[in-house]
Amino acid sequence: MPSRRHFIQGGVSLAALTALSSFLPPQTWAATAPLLQRKIPSSGESLPVIGLGTSRVFNVDLEDDDLAPLVAVVQTLFAGGATLIDTAPSYGAAEQVTGELLKRSGNQAKAFLATKLSSSGRERGAAQFKLSQEALQREKIDLVQVHNLQDTATQLGLLRELKQQGTIRYIGITHYVDSAHADLIEVLEREKGIDFVQFNYSVGERGAEQRLLPYCAEHGLATLINRPFQRAALLSKVKGQPLPDWAVDLQATSWAQLLLKFILAQPAVTTVIPATSNPRYMADNLAAGSGPLPDAALREKIIQAFA
Ligand SMILES: NC(=O)c1ccc[n+]([C@@H]2O[C@H](COP(=O)([O-])OP(=O)(O)OC[C@H]3O[C@@H](n4cnc5c(N)ncnc54)[C@H](OP(=O)(O)O)[C@@H]3O)[C@@H](O)[C@H]2O)c1
Repeated sequence: MPSRRHFIQGGVSLAALTALSSFLPPQTWAATAPLLQRKIPSSGESLPVIGLGTSRVFNVDLEDDDLAPLVAVVQTLFAGGATLIDTAPSYGAAEQVTGELLKRSGNQAKAFLATKLSSSGRERGAAQFKLSQEALQREKIDLVQVHNLQDTATQLGLLRELKQQGTIRYIGITHYVDSAHADLIEVLEREKGIDFVQFNYSVGERGAEQRLLPYCAEHGLATLINRPFQRAALLSKVKGQPLPDWAVDLQATSWAQLLLKFILAQPAVTTVIPATSNPRYMADNLAAGSGPLPDAALREKIIQAFA
């Protein structure tokens, strides 16, 4: 495995590609391009369908040895054609680590940065956003989301002001449990100017199929999908089991790719944001963003495989 020094100094995508191709499984590496893109309905801008979550996995000390694989994760993300990183002020050091890794890997300008507000009151929200800008080392943030609908009306008011000033590009709201989907829709019905909705959707949590995904499609909202693996829960169900023969029809070479392709089969999904601290997993996840997506029959087979 390449050393920490190598990754930190490596910089450009080509160097990262060369380094990474030496330790990634060849079938995974070959499958990483080209990444499918989907449009943000409110602007028409294209986004790659695979992004990166940072909850827990990016909460490391900047001086820690744990930073080395994270440099490789970020290099792999950009080398594979992806751009979106989702973070939050409440994820410990994750915003600061994201900002630092982008600087060290020379990818600051390419990144589509999504963070969140988890404050109560306008002043506290504004102060939190300022700290996010500093941590991310970026004046202009692509997407800022009201985290778990905390103090939603006030924080959305602040975000609309920031968007008008040109400090942020898009506004979003988030949650992570099926039982909050109705609340998300209620906010979307009531509030103006929301571009993105982030929520949970996976083989194991399919509630969004009922109302939220169709609602987003009908009302022109971009979607970010969190908890695609339900953290460790889904993949641990199939640990050690061989992939089914029909995975070949989807050009899928891992169980993780099957789970991500299941999600991407929904046309209302814009980008899915699996978290990882492992560059091999990052490459694996990117591979799900190209090749065929499952039809209804194959989606049913994926559901049964994880039942
Ligand atoms: N309310 C909210 O706004 C909210 C709530 C939840 C999540 N989110 C966002 O969504 C992101 C994703 O959700 P999540 O972090 O809860 O869970 P997740 O993405 O479902 O699962 C993350 C776990 O999956 C493992 N993994 C990733 N790729 C893999 C692969 N190819 N093969 C095997 N294992 C793999 C990672 O392992 P390693 O740790 O070994 O890399 C990590 O522990 C978060 O990081 C966050 O950015 C937002």
